[in-house]
Amino acid sequence: MNVATSIGKVDYDGLIPNNVGLGEDVRVKRALEKWHPGYIDWWKDMGPEGFQESLVYLRTAVSVDPKGWAKFDYVKMPDYKWGILLAPQAEGRTIPFGAHAGEPAWQEVPGEYRAMLRRLIVIQGDTEPASVEQQRHLGKTAPSLYDLRNLFQVNVEEGRHLWAMVYLLQKYFGTDGREEAEALLQRRSGDADSPRMLGAFNEKTPDWLSFFMFTYFTDRDGKMQLEALAQSGFDPLSRTCRFMLTEEAHHMFVGETGVTRVIQRTCEAMKEAGITDPDDIPRVRKLGVIDLPTIQKKANLHFSLTLDLFGNEISTNAANAFHAGLKGRYRENRLTDDHKLETSTYPVLRLIDGKIQNEDAPALSALNMRLRDDYVNDANVGVGRWNKVIESFGIPFQIKLPHVAFNRNIGEFSKVKADVDGRQMSEAEWASHRSDFLPNEQDKDFIESLMQPQYEAGKFASWIAPPKVGIDNKPGEFEYVKIA
Ligand SMILES: [Fe+2]
Ligand SMILES: [Fe+2]
Repeated sequence: MNVATSIGKVDYDGLIPNNVGLGEDVRVKRALEKWHPGYIDWWKDMGPEGFQESLVYLRTAVSVDPKGWAKFDYVKMPDYKWGILLAPQAEGRTIPFGAHAGEPAWQEVPGEYRAMLRRLIVIQGDTEPASVEQQRHLGKTAPSLYDLRNLFQVNVEEGRHLWAMVYLLQKYFGTDGREEAEALLQRRSGDADSPRMLGAFNEKTPDWLSFFMFTYFTDRDGKMQLEALAQSGFDPLSRTCRFMLTEEAHHMFVGETGVTRVIQRTCEAMKEAGITDPDDIPRVRKLGVIDLPTIQKKANLHFSLTLDLFGNEISTNAANAFHAGLKGRYRENRLTDDHKLETSTYPVLRLIDGKIQNEDAPALSALNMRLRDDYVNDANVGVGRWNKVIESFGIPFQIKLPHVAFNRNIGEFSKVKADVDGRQMSEAEWASHRSDFLPNEQDKDFIESLMQPQYEAGKFASWIAPPKVGIDNKPGEFEYVKIA
């Protein structure tokens, strides 16, 4: 059997559904079966709290055919089939960039880059269970069964993404891969002794507006990282990430439409009450909806936390990973330069003599900056759609992404304080204006007061509009979760 046909076939009956021929790969199959109980323990410990026995209408990946890769059915989350699915192998694929550009893509780990590659996989892998941990309390306050189901769909798929990375570690990295796979189950989001590896994944996701902002902004960082890794010269990583991107699209859909529905409901309520001033916060809040300035503050928070995930603007690690052919640029295959970047430059926004300005840097060193720029452009598209909704109600307000220097903890701008327009401030000014830009205690308390569960099929909490269409074309009153 050649590789191409074996890829199309999914073994769905065993403990671990897969299209990687696990049945014939006894060593890796055993390693994964050994890892599985620890994973289930982790899921029960750190996965969605209080809903492990509920039947959830979930999609499960059963194929990698873009036209029909998922099937929908009721399933208890611990029984979800977390499969290992790689996008089909492209015949004759070559390394798309870096020092080895044009050579055949690696099917095995290139020895000289082993440590670097393992680290990239571990960092990606660590984010997947982290978000499940961050979101584990949200079921208790779900604004509808539709939203509850979407939360759980995102959660089980992040679980599958962990499986995807663990497969690569177990298959290609021997003993240290096995140790890393174990460690992925040991770290905990927000834990003082053993936190997750990246800052934004140790923050709380305390309420549903945060959840929607997280899936919009932070899952979109996931998308950018996966896009960059999907370009990898290490073919198994590329194929893994390409399939993960199919699922990731739904996570961002949940985020974008979630925020849209919050905005929609706020605008409707304002219109019904005859309120035209978006800054009349007390009156708007009395309506049981979230005022637009607070939605803006949440966006400011999640956007700035997510920018930190791109790392330092100037980075030797990023340069090395590109040069080695391991991690490419966003849509590398559509770019038309030499794909080596040894002589080109890229404009990087830096702090020079205390001023925020562009400076040309060697393009290889500026790859984090470049990916972040692509991210900001991508994130702006949905913001434009949010503003269309506000505009359609004639309310004079626009959601804006803050300046990249705002509220940063990593990189060039971590050394300064800046407002949402990038104007630098003293520490004292920042302290007195912080709560103009970021949610303050009253904002948090108000949002928390709205977080009352609505578990009646077809009903929605006061602060969010129903979706335009159901999941899997189900009607409005469909019972997406049968709560046990
Ligand atoms: Fe993911
Ligand atoms: Fe995701």
